[in-house]
Amino acid sequence: MEQRGSWGTRAGFLLAAMGSAIGLGNIWRFPATAYDNGGGAFFIPYLFALLTAGIPILIMEYTIGHKYRGSAPKSLGRLSKGFEWIGWWQIGISFVISTYYAVIIAWAMMYAYYSISGAWGSDTVAFFTGDFLNMTDPGQFGGLVYKILIPLVIVWVITLGFLARGVKKGIEIANKIFIPTLVVLFLIIVIRAVTLDGAFVGLEAFFQPDWSKIAEPGVWVAAYGQIFFSLSIAFAIMITYSSYLSKKSDITNNAFITGFANSSFELLAGIGVFAALGFMASQVDQPVTEVVSGGIGLAFMVFPQIINEMPILSNVFGILFFLSLVLAGLSSLISITETYVAGVSEKFNVSRKVSVFVGGGIAAVISLAYASQGGLVLLDTVDHFINTYGVAMAGLFEVVAIAWFAKALKDLKAHANSVSDIRLGGWWTFCVGGITPVVLGYMLLQNIQTELKEAYEGYPIEFLFYFGWVVAIGVMFIGALFTIKPWPNNDLEVTYEEDKGVSQ
Ligand code: PHE
Repeated sequence: MEQRGSWGTRAGFLLAAMGSAIGLGNIWRFPATAYDNGGGAFFIPYLFALLTAGIPILIMEYTIGHKYRGSAPKSLGRLSKGFEWIGWWQIGISFVISTYYAVIIAWAMMYAYYSISGAWGSDTVAFFTGDFLNMTDPGQFGGLVYKILIPLVIVWVITLGFLARGVKKGIEIANKIFIPTLVVLFLIIVIRAVTLDGAFVGLEAFFQPDWSKIAEPGVWVAAYGQIFFSLSIAFAIMITYSSYLSKKSDITNNAFITGFANSSFELLAGIGVFAALGFMASQVDQPVTEVVSGGIGLAFMVFPQIINEMPILSNVFGILFFLSLVLAGLSSLISITETYVAGVSEKFNVSRKVSVFVGGGIAAVISLAYASQGGLVLLDTVDHFINTYGVAMAGLFEVVAIAWFAKALKDLKAHANSVSDIRLGGWWTFCVGGITPVVLGYMLLQNIQTELKEAYEGYPIEFLFYFGWVVAIGVMFIGALFTIKPWPNNDLEVTYEEDKGVSQ
């Protein structure tokens, strides 16, 4: 067996954790979510969700990784034997996400290139769906699109290349390059955006509080959903990353730093995006509400339009924006992929390189399906189901199992307190074992209710069944299959204290 990897420095771990948290979700998901859910008033449920669920769960996951020193299934299995399954299930979710996340990064890479000449022309919607994606009718795959295939291969080569080099020499170095660069690029974007004509109108629309929204339960669900997604919790990621921490690392402080850094970036993205939207609204003489969008539409249809309208150096702005997406995306993709690289290498007793090659290779091959003409509809469906059900359910099972079944919070709290400056008290136990399961349970029921009312986006029912439900529920069963094989060297029973020696 290879020796377990470890981080070279505390900053290295923090940058990697931030790199995982700061992703596409910060840039294109947060601004629109905040706007739709009360604008300035959304900050209250958002901060509440950050402090009652985001950071407390992050502390819990860091503690589990640090205490049990293994991939998510190994750490959870060591906590209590039956929980190994939850680890594999979360890895399954991450695996599925990695297959399409890579494709979005590939699009962004191509769009950074298109920015040089403004290749999208004046009809940016027609360009994205037609010239670029070559879309077919929903539910059909059509052929492979080579314009996506080439950057997609580059994305996987970079990701798997860094992962193969290990924790310190690969993941840590990648994040030490990507994250500071991302922050600089993004600051330039924000400064340029807020100095554009009409930027103020956009910011006003973004920050204007609609206090009536606070009373809507849906707004609170949106806040918790955003926090879970954005902080990469309940995806097996943070357990894996913290398992490479050295014995004396501070846990609680690191969790607060990660949480606040991620939210700061989120706020920064909100300011940049809405300043740019305000500019665009004033150029086309429309109210901001008419031009607001989020997700893929914002990045690949609205932003190219904004870039078209820019008075000077528009192509530089375009390149910076799409490169930011690429960097934010790559550092997250590395963390998502590391979950199964770590799990497979430990369970099957193979080297990191073999597990990168096999695990990453399979993910890369599956990702080709999204590089087809039907790729966008497939991506949208898989993303919707895996995120809405996979994450809410896996998160719910995780906290209920740990807090209620294993009653492990007391031990975990003692462990975190033994190494951290900030001491955890009863508030932490209440947040993790009380508030979070209630909110996640409610979120799940609400989502299922909406789902049963109408077919998502009106896509064909059969398509939604196979690529939505079957995938989201399927990863649960596939996760269970992985638990059948025993761990090499009886790894779950062996006291993990012994491991600690070699990982220092
Ligand atoms: N948290 C990151 C984001 O906001 C990346 C991520 C997304 C990680 C989904 C896991 C799952 O985009």
